[in-house]
Amino acid sequence: MRMGIDTDKYYTPPAVANRALERAQLVSKPIVCADTACGSGSLLIAAENVLNARYGVGIDSDPHAIQQLRRARPDWRLYVGDLLKRNRAPPTGFPGANYGVDLLVLNPPFSLGPRKYVTVKYLGRSVKCSVAMAHILRSFELFRPIQGAIAVVPESLLYSNTDQHARELLDHNFSFTELLQLSIYTFKGARVNSLFVQIAPQISRRDSSIQINTTQLDIIPVTVVRGGLQMHAFERSPSGARVIHSTALRSIATGGVATISDKTSSTAKGRISGWMLLLPRVGLPNKEAFCAFYSRDEVQLSDCVIGMTFPSKLEAFCVQRRIVANWQSLLSIYKGTGARYITIARFVDWLYDVGIRDCNALKKISGLTLV
Ligand SMILES: C[S@@+](CC[C@H](N)C(=O)[O-])C[C@H]1O[C@@H](n2cnc3c(N)ncnc32)[C@H](O)[C@@H]1O
Repeated sequence: MRMGIDTDKYYTPPAVANRALERAQLVSKPIVCADTACGSGSLLIAAENVLNARYGVGIDSDPHAIQQLRRARPDWRLYVGDLLKRNRAPPTGFPGANYGVDLLVLNPPFSLGPRKYVTVKYLGRSVKCSVAMAHILRSFELFRPIQGAIAVVPESLLYSNTDQHARELLDHNFSFTELLQLSIYTFKGARVNSLFVQIAPQISRRDSSIQINTTQLDIIPVTVVRGGLQMHAFERSPSGARVIHSTALRSIATGGVATISDKTSSTAKGRISGWMLLLPRVGLPNKEAFCAFYSRDEVQLSDCVIGMTFPSKLEAFCVQRRIVANWQSLLSIYKGTGARYITIARFVDWLYDVGIRDCNALKKISGLTLV
């Protein structure tokens, strides 16, 4: 047992952290990673090394650990605090990131001490659970990580009565996948049956094994928008809307929409804002350049770009994941003898086949039914 007279300073050996993160199935590279019990920072370091994460956010109740880590990693945002008493996440906006945390990496404290359970707030409810589960729930509540978490958990968290209620709540939106079983000797000074799990957001439980069969899928709504701005004929204006052409999709995926410098006062079809995914209409798409992002300000899509807009980042990333899982099939509907292209109708039909519904197409269908 990881017996708890201290606060569980059983740090993850770097080699174990690396091995676990190498097994994670992620939709895209996480830009911002957070560890809410960061200790010596080994999981954040592994996230940098293995997943290429660019920014680290860490919290730990141990001031000494944070002091040491601040010296070693002045570029990370590090906070002393008791996660279970926190009501707000620290600031998580970083340049070129998705205005939030992409992935949590956690090895939470396990020790209940003399207590049988702790009580935490999650989704407006009071939940009685183990300390490790409490830490996971509070971390999800505070950070709402786009791609969920990779966490070390005691085996009991997956089946105990104590954590049953919490598991049922998480089950609505997340799936647990075992990444790496750990030996009872993994943590120096502690003997515990534990494992690394990935807790990934799910709209569909079948995302990872998508067959093109809509009857098996949960349906995700999107709004498909065709860009309309002709690149050879638009008025540039420094205070206008950013113009997104297909050649800019890669730079947006790596550096965010702020990398676009072309702006216009011309207004054409395809003015969108909020959470979006973009694909070229002409020329084959590139998986590396296909990444959901947020723009508070309206952007203007060129006539070589197709956009999809979403009410929230969760839908945006679920659609990204589903499209990436069907990438070869997407490429096959780009046709033509010269530059390959896709039509909106063909794209909307294809989306339908993978369980993604275009709201505009649905409106047209319901309009027809009413006539
Ligand atoms: C098992 S260690 C994990 C450290 C690090 N994430 C790693 O994997 O090496 C747990 C850490 O949680 C911290 N901790 C314990 N209770 C906490 C709380 N309520 N809030 C924040 N950190 C806490 C401890 O100080 C310790 O550094």
